[in-house]
Amino acid sequence: MCGIVGYIGKREAYPIIIKGLKRLEYRGYDSAGVALLNGGLKVFKKKGKVSELEGSVSADATKSNLGIGHTRWATHGEPNDINAHPHVSQNGKLAIIHNGIIENYQSLKTELEQKGHKFKSQTDSEVVIHLVEEILLNNSCSLEEAVRLALNEIIGAYAICVISEDDKSQLIAARKGSPLVIGIGDGEFFVASDATPIIEYTNNVVYLDDYEIAIIRDGELIVKSIEDVIKTPFIHKLEMELESIEKGGFPHFMLKEIYEQPKSIRDCLRGRLIATDSHLNLNGMLQFMNKFTNAERLIFVACGTSWHAGLVAEYLFEDIARVNVEVEYASEFRYRNPVIRENDIVVAISQSGETADTLAAIEMAKSKGATIFGVCNVVGSSISRASHAGAYIHAGPEIGVASTKAFTGQVTVLTMMALILGLKKGTLTENRFRELIFALDQIPNKIQKILDDTSSVKKIAETFQFAKNFLYLGRGYNFPVALEGALKLKEISYIHAEGYPAAEMKHGPIALIDEDMPVVFIAPKDSTYEKIISNIQEVKARKGKVIAIVTEGEKDIFNMSDYVVEIPATEECLQPLLSSIPLQLLSYYVAINRGCNVDQPRNLAKSVTVE
Ligand code: M6R
Repeated sequence: MCGIVGYIGKREAYPIIIKGLKRLEYRGYDSAGVALLNGGLKVFKKKGKVSELEGSVSADATKSNLGIGHTRWATHGEPNDINAHPHVSQNGKLAIIHNGIIENYQSLKTELEQKGHKFKSQTDSEVVIHLVEEILLNNSCSLEEAVRLALNEIIGAYAICVISEDDKSQLIAARKGSPLVIGIGDGEFFVASDATPIIEYTNNVVYLDDYEIAIIRDGELIVKSIEDVIKTPFIHKLEMELESIEKGGFPHFMLKEIYEQPKSIRDCLRGRLIATDSHLNLNGMLQFMNKFTNAERLIFVACGTSWHAGLVAEYLFEDIARVNVEVEYASEFRYRNPVIRENDIVVAISQSGETADTLAAIEMAKSKGATIFGVCNVVGSSISRASHAGAYIHAGPEIGVASTKAFTGQVTVLTMMALILGLKKGTLTENRFRELIFALDQIPNKIQKILDDTSSVKKIAETFQFAKNFLYLGRGYNFPVALEGALKLKEISYIHAEGYPAAEMKHGPIALIDEDMPVVFIAPKDSTYEKIISNIQEVKARKGKVIAIVTEGEKDIFNMSDYVVEIPATEECLQPLLSSIPLQLLSYYVAINRGCNVDQPRNLAKSVTVE
C-alpha cells in the first residue's frame, strides 16, 4: 500500500511527481505529499486525494529538479496532514517517503527520543529519517552510508526514497519487501512503486531487489547491497502501452477493465492455445512438467479475489487432472506451520504480485522445499520473481481497486494449466482435451456477447440499489463465483453481501431470507441444475427475491425467478469465466447508483503490501 514517486534530472520534478502520484492513487488515497528541493527543502502534505494536495503547493517551490512524493494508505496513525508523508528529520534538512511497515519502530523511537529527537507524527515511517539523521550526526559519513546503516537496524518492509537539502544532486532509494522500480532516462531518473508513473518518459527500468540500495547522483545510478557490495543492475525493457493505464473514454477504470475482458483473455491465450492444431502450451510449466505430473498435492495460496480464482482451480485440477488440491488464504498458511513436502507444488496467485501475505507464504513454502509456481499479472513483480516458474495472465494493468479482468485472466491460466496436466497425466482423453480447448477459445466472444447487452443487469441494479444485504448462491464451479460476486458488491457499494454454496443455505443463512432479501443464484445449466432449482424454490417459499444468472434459452429457472440475466452456454468447467461477468457489472451499477467511488472505494487499496 502507499505509492511513492521520485524524480531527479533536468526537468521540473513537481509535475512528474503529481502525475505519477495520480497514477499510483490506486495504492492508497487518504493523504498525499511532496518534498522538493528549491533553495532549501520544501514539504507540502495534505489529507485526502492528490488533487487536494495540488492546491496547497506554492508556485515557487515547484521550480525544482529533484523531488519525492507519496500517496498514503494509513497503517500507523490516522489519515491527517501530519501523518502524511514525506517526513522530515529534526533539523528539517532530510526528507523521506516510505511504503511498508517498520516493525521495530517503537523501540527505535524510544531510543531516539532519549537522544533528544522529537517526533511530529504517529507514523512508523518518521523514525527512519530521524535514525538516518542520528547516524549522520554521530559518524562523519555520507548520506548513502547513513541510510545503509539505518536500514541495517530496521525490521520490517520498506520501499523508501531519501533526499537531503545538503546534496541537491542526489536521491537515495532502497527496498525490502515493498516494490520499487527505477526508470532510466537521458540524464534523468524516475523512482516509483510501479512502472505506471515512468512509462511516459522511458522504457528502460531496473527493478530493485530486496536489500538493495540505489544511489542516484550526478546523473549516475549505482546499485549496492545493504552490505555495501556494488551490484550490476539488469535493465528491463517495459512493454506497457501508455493507453493501457488511461481510462480510454470509460467513466471508470473498473468499467473499462470489465469491457476489456474479451481482449485480455485473448491476450492470455495468444501463442499458447491454437484450437485448430489442438495446441496448448505454457512455457512456464514445461521445465517443471515432471514435478507437476509427480506432484502429490497442489497448494494454491492467495488473498481476496485471487483466492477465489484458487477455489475455481480446486474444481478444475481435481476434476480434470485428478490431483489433490488445497486452497489456502496466504495470511493463514504462512503462520500455520503447514505440512509441506518436497513434491508439493505451491501455486501463488496474485494480480499485483506484491501482496505481502502471499509473498511471505511462498517464501516459507520455498524454505521447506516446495516448488513455487506464480500466476501473476504484473510483470517483474516480487511474487513472479520469487517463484521458480510461472505464467503471466497478460491482462494488462488493472487499476480499479475491485479486481475484474485479473480474475478471469487468472481463471484462464489455471484452466490452461489443468488441461495441460490432465492431458499429460492421461486423466483427460485427447478428444475431450480438444473439445475443451475449442470451448476455451470461444470464451472471449461469449464474454463480448454478455457485454453487448447489459440492460437486464442495469435494471436489477436500479431495483436493488437500496438493499441492505445480498446473498449470492452457487454450486460446484459456481460456488467460488458466488463468493466473488459478493466480494465485488461489498467492496465498492458497501452493501453487506455473503456468498455461500447453495446447499449450505439451509444450514443457517436461510434464516435471513424475507421479502427484502435479494438472492443471486448463479445457476447456468450444468450438472447441479436440478439441485439448484430446489434451492431456488426454498428461497421463493420464504418470499426472497430471486435474481438468477441462467443459460440462454433455459426456461425453468427463467420462469421461477424474479429477475434473470442470460449468459451463453459453455462447458461446465469454463462457466466461471462467463458467470462472473454479470456479477461484476451488477456490483458496478449498484455502486454507481449509490454514488460510490468505484475505482477508489473507502478503506481499500489495490496492492496490500502490508500484512
Ligand atoms: O494483487 P493480489 O491479487 O494479490 O490481491 C489480492 C487481493 O488484495 C485482491 O484480490 C482484493 O481482494 C481485491 N480488492 C478484490 O477485488
